[in-house]
Amino acid sequence: MIQEEANISDILKKEIPGDEDIKFSLRPSRLAEYIGQNKVTETLKIAIEAALKRKESLDHILFNGPPGLGKTTLAHIIANEMGTRIITSSGPALEKGGDLMGILTHLEKGDILFIDEIHRIPKIVEEFLYPAMEDFAVDFIFDKGAHARTHRYRLEPFTLIGATTRAGLLSSPLRERFGITRDLDFYDENDLTKIVKRSASILEVPIDDEGAFEIARRSRGTPRVANRLLKRVRDYAQVRAHGKITKNVAIDALLLEGIDEQGIGETDRKVLKTIIINYKGGPVGIEAIASTLQIEADVLIDVVEPYLLKTGFIIRTPQGRKATEIAYSHLGISFNKNLGLFADNDRKRK
Ligand code: ADE
Repeated sequence: MIQEEANISDILKKEIPGDEDIKFSLRPSRLAEYIGQNKVTETLKIAIEAALKRKESLDHILFNGPPGLGKTTLAHIIANEMGTRIITSSGPALEKGGDLMGILTHLEKGDILFIDEIHRIPKIVEEFLYPAMEDFAVDFIFDKGAHARTHRYRLEPFTLIGATTRAGLLSSPLRERFGITRDLDFYDENDLTKIVKRSASILEVPIDDEGAFEIARRSRGTPRVANRLLKRVRDYAQVRAHGKITKNVAIDALLLEGIDEQGIGETDRKVLKTIIINYKGGPVGIEAIASTLQIEADVLIDVVEPYLLKTGFIIRTPQGRKATEIAYSHLGISFNKNLGLFADNDRKRK
């Protein structure tokens, strides 16, 4: 009987959608497994050890940076290292003050509250966070106008971890209430190669150093992209190349995905061509690019543009975005000095 139950539960487990993702989670769960962002992880190690020694909750932490660099992963790692629960929410999900109150008043001592996209919290909800972060208290307001009374409700000490792609949009009262603020930067090829090899070993797919490097250099400095590309290359290797990921297998597989050796994909090319062809190299406002391509401006700003800026394909000026000579030569379009960025500089020099 017991044997039978075990078998049924094994079968059920296999059929749960997304089970594979949980089983083969590629995200590190401890700081010791985390690759890259060394300065950030060093800061966290010290803060965690000190808080554990003092038996206190950690200071509030704000992570800022483009998507896919590990903000959520770090929040979960911190909870694991502290041995605490993590309760997750996001800015857009917290529509009313009551939504946040409900979460705050149910927090237990030492809990971590993770709020993703914290820059999208409505202002009215954000104001509840100030006393919660500073004094571990929330102020309930009864009645309105002359009869308004407030009642202060004590909260258990907790740690707020906020993640944002746009720290600049956070109000200063909120920003100032975080004890630790760290920017996550794009990963170098070395660290991404290590991440690809680690993930390949979890996925039990054979890979050589050159194969891992080819995936890493096309990953836009982003572990989430690296892991996504690894899964595509794994499929290709299994169907077309006896299972092992080598340099040539990775190159062929990623060519099919439309990703070139600098990690520039279809959307990047569309953005660059729009600036160069439709807007004569720029400057052009992000809204104009977004509406030409029918892409949300927020997606362009948060996801596409940071890597194009980092690699020098575009620059940002007060008048808008401009394509650089690097972008022209990458796309094989001849750079017309009378139209582009350098024409402006030339003019200024005269
Ligand atoms: N998987 C995704 N991000 C990672 C990281 N920074 N280190 C190790 N594995 C990862």
